[in-house]
Amino acid sequence: MSGIDALTAELGGSLRGKRILVRSDLNVPLDGDTITDDGRIRASLPTILQLARAGAKVIVAAHLGRPGGQPDDRYRITPVATRVAELVDGEFDCLLATDTVGESARAMVERMPEGSILVLENVRFNAGETSKDDTERGGFADELAALADGFVSDGFGVVHRKQASVYDVAARLPHAMGPLVAAEVDVLRRLTDAPERPYAVVLGGSKVSDKLGVIDNLLGKADTLLIGGGMVFTFLAAQGREVGKSLLEVDQLDTCREYLARAEQTGVRLVLPTDIVVDTAFPGGDREPEPRVVSADAIPTDALGLDIGPDSARAFAAEIEQARTVFWNGPMGVFEVDAFAGGTRAVAEALTKVDGLSVVGGGDSAAAVRRLGFADDAFGHISTGGGASLEYLEGKELPGIAILED
Ligand code: 3PG
Repeated sequence: MSGIDALTAELGGSLRGKRILVRSDLNVPLDGDTITDDGRIRASLPTILQLARAGAKVIVAAHLGRPGGQPDDRYRITPVATRVAELVDGEFDCLLATDTVGESARAMVERMPEGSILVLENVRFNAGETSKDDTERGGFADELAALADGFVSDGFGVVHRKQASVYDVAARLPHAMGPLVAAEVDVLRRLTDAPERPYAVVLGGSKVSDKLGVIDNLLGKADTLLIGGGMVFTFLAAQGREVGKSLLEVDQLDTCREYLARAEQTGVRLVLPTDIVVDTAFPGGDREPEPRVVSADAIPTDALGLDIGPDSARAFAAEIEQARTVFWNGPMGVFEVDAFAGGTRAVAEALTKVDGLSVVGGGDSAAAVRRLGFADDAFGHISTGGGASLEYLEGKELPGIAILED
């Protein structure tokens, strides 16, 4: 027995009337008050509903953005709580506390009926949540733990954070790994323990410095590493090519050179785009994009790369489609603008055709596939954790998982 069943047994055989604190990752992208991708909320809902259906008083702790340890109106959890209530669709009462562990939260927990849901205000409005000081974090975790009888850790997107509502609270309450975290770990294990081959990894996104650990680790594991997105220009520059005004991390040039050399030595195929979609300015404002396709060898000095080109998109897609295991993290270009979405669309499309396991790593890539109109179930798995899944693939220990296994 594991997970919620084991917790139920530990709490006397029933969750009816028990106060269960659930850490979910409801950190969704917002445009003002409008949620632009509610994927994380939808992914978190089954656990919340499972607990409420078992008669628990479900207390949801979550963060939104990085408010820096104090209340900030821009990061109020209200739109998230509203969306939770919409999705619960009247099956249970959905309440919202105006603080995390203060008077409002305590009074509402006191009053909530069994089989109801209370969303706490953004946990990161409290300095103790993200503090590096164990005592300060522990103090906040004590207050969170005092609200509940048991804890379910279901926020996969934050399990790489040693934070009060993720880590310390688990040490203070009977706890369980939530079904969402268990499902994510299961998929990531399939990527790391004997993946079916060929195993292709597609990496994009703006900065190579965010992906160093994962590239480092995958150079010994994947068969093919396809690189696009803003990070590709540091690789192209490392090969001595002109990248114009494209994003370039000068301090990572040596590292990229080293990766290129190691790929040669280990026989991992590190594939870079051969053509690039460029413009003379980053898209935005009133200016209409003026996309041009150029060879990756001939990026004009006055241009910046904003997507991989069509030849590269076809080549990447062919590599992906013939793989049996694919992990993808990071868009290939500025997918939010149609003129620069072609590479990302081609990669997403190819992932839907994989005969085997295809995994979309969270964050921007998950938002991208939804924005481009792909259905979630077209992929083997869409992770809810960007940073968390990368750190797992780096081989790092994730504090929020380690504490559950203690
Ligand atoms: C994420 O968006 O990756 C998670 O919610 C974690 O957020 P964080 O990077 O601000 O800790």
